[in-house]
Formats: sequence, structure tokens, C-alpha cells
Amino acid sequence: MAQDYLYDYPVLLGSQRIGPDLVNVGLRLPSEDWQLLHLYNPRTLVPGSTMPPYRFLFEKRKIGRQPSAEALKLSGNFAPPPGYEVVPTTKAKTLVAYLLNQRIETSLFEAPLPSAATALANAATNAPATTNAPATNTPAGAATNSPAK
Ligand code: HEM
Repeated sequence: MAQDYLYDYPVLLGSQRIGPDLVNVGLRLPSEDWQLLHLYNPRTLVPGSTMPPYRFLFEKRKIGRQPSAEALKLSGNFAPPPGYEVVPTTKAKTLVAYLLNQRIETSLFEAPLPSAATALANAATNAPATTNAPATNTPAGAATNSPAK
């Protein structure tokens, strides 16, 4: 949607954009643990990932009396040396909270969220999604501005 790029400057389209669109990442990948591990080292979860690791958002420290409940579950080559643990800083946790809040739950004018009934009808007939789609981003079931019958 053109609207996705409304506040982007410069706009990075097509091949200049390397990672996937994160606009709905909170619904697609809702695990906080996954997001933290991915930021610390994308390759622990996506072999061969080209995303750079953001290790400065984490602290590697000596385990105190007890290991922290927040310590990343790293194994094999990615594990810290014995007696050490990797914990997310406030910055990492804040960034992950932001990512988990990226959710497409509101209809856009150009791309209204289909109601369950519309989605079913379209799946059955392959008809264009215009028939029953709301013309505004009012919640499903609310009155739309389609002409009165
Ligand atoms: C702080 C900055 C960044 C954040 C918060 C971030 C976040 C994410 C998230 C949440 C995903 C998973 C989305 C999905 O798989 O649908 C992802 C995937 C990905 N990102 Fe990033 N990213 C950042 C920077 C970058 C940079 C600088 C690059 C490339 C130079 C990059 C390249 C990729 C790629 C290729 C993927 C696909 C999955 C993978 O290879 O791990 N990201 N990113």
C-alpha cells in the first residue's frame, strides 16, 4: 500500500529493502523469546540470515547467585562461556515490545480487512474482494457508507 510509506524518508522500495516488511510482525511472530534471540543473533533461528546481530542490546555477564530468568536460551556455538549468561537490556526489551505491537488490526481505506463471510465468499468464487468489503475502516458489522437497500 502506498500508505505504508507515508512517513518514510527516504522511501526504500523494492530491492533496496532487505528485510521483510515488519508491519504485521506482532501477529506473525508474537513470541518475545523469539524476537530477543533473533535480535541477539538472527542465525540461531534463521540459518544463513543476512540480518546483522544487535548484540549491543544485550549484556553478557557473570552468573550471580542464580541464573537470571531473563537469560537467553542459547546453545551450542552460540552459548556464552560456562558461568556467564546473556540478558536483554531495557533497550532490547523496549524494541521487542515495539515489534510485538506492530499488528495489522485496523482496516485501511485501500485495503479493508475482509469480514469472515466476505473471505469465505471470495475463496469460493475467486470474485474480486469488492462485493461486501466495507468502504470505510469502520469495524465489521458497523454501518458502511454503501447505498441503502
Ligand atoms: C534494529 C533493526 C532491525 C530490527 C528490529 C529487525 C527486525 C526483524 C524481525 C522482527 C524480523 C523477522 C520478521 C519476519 O521474519 O517476518 C527480521 C527479519 C529479517 N531482517 Fe531484520 N531487523 C533489523 C535490521 C535489519 C537489517 C539492518 C537487515 C539487513 C541488512 C535485516 C535483514 C533481515 C532479513 C534478511 C530478515 C529475514 C529473516 C532473517 O534472515 O533473519 N534486518 N528483522
